[in-house]
Order: sequence, then structure tokens, then C-alpha cells
Amino acid sequence: MALVSAKDMLNKARDGKYAVGQFNINNLEWTKAILLTAQELQSPVILGVSEGAGKYMCGYKTIVGMVKGMLEELNITVPVALHLDHGSYDGAKACINAGFSSIMFDGSHLPFDENLEKTTKLVNTCEVLGISLEAEVGAIGGEEDGVVGKGECADPDECKQIADLGVTMLAAGIGNIHGKYPENWEGLSFETLAAIKEKTGDMPLVLHGGTGIPADQIKKAISLGVAKINVNTECQLAFQEATRAYIEAGKDQQGKGFDPRKLLAPGFENIKATVKEKMELFGSVGTVSYTHLTHPTTSRV
Ligand code: 13P
Repeated sequence: MALVSAKDMLNKARDGKYAVGQFNINNLEWTKAILLTAQELQSPVILGVSEGAGKYMCGYKTIVGMVKGMLEELNITVPVALHLDHGSYDGAKACINAGFSSIMFDGSHLPFDENLEKTTKLVNTCEVLGISLEAEVGAIGGEEDGVVGKGECADPDECKQIADLGVTMLAAGIGNIHGKYPENWEGLSFETLAAIKEKTGDMPLVLHGGTGIPADQIKKAISLGVAKINVNTECQLAFQEATRAYIEAGKDQQGKGFDPRKLLAPGFENIKATVKEKMELFGSVGTVSYTHLTHPTTSRV
């Protein structure tokens, strides 16, 4: 299947009270692990690419080529969206030109009027091209690609103004943080989430910072309108832990254990296990046949 916009999969998730996982990719192993798991579990999936990861993987065109090649060579038939994560305005344009099927424009750190103006321009472009668009209100805490955000709760009225522009999905700060949660984290603000839901109606909401949020809070967030959950750090930790164990056990020094296909295999398997655990928690497992029956492909690429 070709890349698809995230619109149909997220509307289905919202209606079916589950969430689609966005898993950030860093290289070939990451991408293959996530795609194979989605296919095995018959779950839709969103591959997230930050601007930093985009540079690391030799640019957006390289990534589009790699992902499209894998969809074909691995016979991936579940819906897959290739999505820019926390994009700048220029980054969004570059990804649209490179063939991404979904874009996040993160104007949350800009003055609100500028966020509104730039998001409006991208709504029009994405609409014409059939690309899904995520906007953000209220910075998500923590650090991502060197950009440090102060954790905050978004203003529900500002969320409504951005949602009314016609974006596909909306990320709003509700006390969530990128990376590991500190010991003294107060948890998600469900009061804020409920207020945002009330103002934004049917808009699928996005929860960033999916690493380390307790299962009961994830489930409650989904029940209150979250239809997309982003996970990055947890896959990185899964990869690091399994790779460390392999080397600490001296396996890289035994036989052909130095071969990258062997050296990277435990980390690859651990990413698969993490993605599986998240898809089960988010409730997206086995939802694809239903998606296929009711929504034909919306691909443009
Ligand atoms: P984590 O790294 O905390 O899982 O957050 C990922 C994310 O929100 C990407 O946008």
C-alpha cells in the first residue's frame, strides 16, 4: 500500500475509542521494526520524523525513498502515514515537497497570531494535496532535538481557534513532557483535556510524550478524545538496553557477533516488543480490516 494521509485512520480511532501510535524513526532498523509490527498486528501506524532525525537520515527525500521501498518489499498492507514531527514552517514545506503524507507544524513557541497565520497557510496547501496536518497549541515540556519547551497546559479557547482552521489533528499541552517523566511529575491534566475536547468537538487530539505515561492515564486520555499518541524515547531506551546487554555479555566478540546484522538484532527485536506493547495498550491492534472496508486509500504519493 502507498503512504496515506493520517486523516481517515485518526477519525476511525476517535470514533472507535482507540489511538493510533506515532513511533519516531531514526534509521532503517527502526523503520523496519515498526512497519513489521504494525503489519503483524494489523494496526495502522504513523512514522514520525523530527527535523533532527531527518538530517541524520540524509534528508527527507532519502526517508521517503526508504519508507516507500519498505512498504513494497515487505508487503505492508496496513495504512502507514509518514509524518513530520514538530516541524518548522520551512521544514513542513520541505517535507510536503519530498512526498511526506502527513505534517506537523509546531508554531506553539511563536506568538499566537503568528501560529494562527502560518497554520492557516499550511491548512490550505495540505487540503489541496490530501496531506494531513497536525497543529500545536501550548508547548509540550521537556527537550526534543535541542528544543526545550516549558511544560504547560494549553488554553482551550486558543485550541478552538486553531482547530476551527480545519487542521486534521491537534496537539495540546496537558502537562505532558517529552522524554522520561521526573519523579515529581503531577500527571496529565484531565481537566484541561476535557475543556479542550469540549471546545474542539470532533477534532482528533494528539498526546505527545507517550513514553512512561501510566496505562490508566493513557486509557483515560483516549476516552476523552485522544486519537494519536507519540512515542519516541521508549523505543530508544529499548534499543539501548538490548544492545548494551548483547555487548556486556561479550556476544559481539564471539564468532561473527560483530556483524551489524547480529549486533543490531537484539535492539531491533526490543523495538518490536515495545511497539507491540504500545499498540495493545492504545487499542489499535486488529483495527485495519475495518478501516479498509470503509475507507479506500487516500494516497497522493
Ligand atoms: P517521548 O520521546 O517522550 O516518547 O515523546 C515523543 C513525542 O512526543 C514526539 O513528538
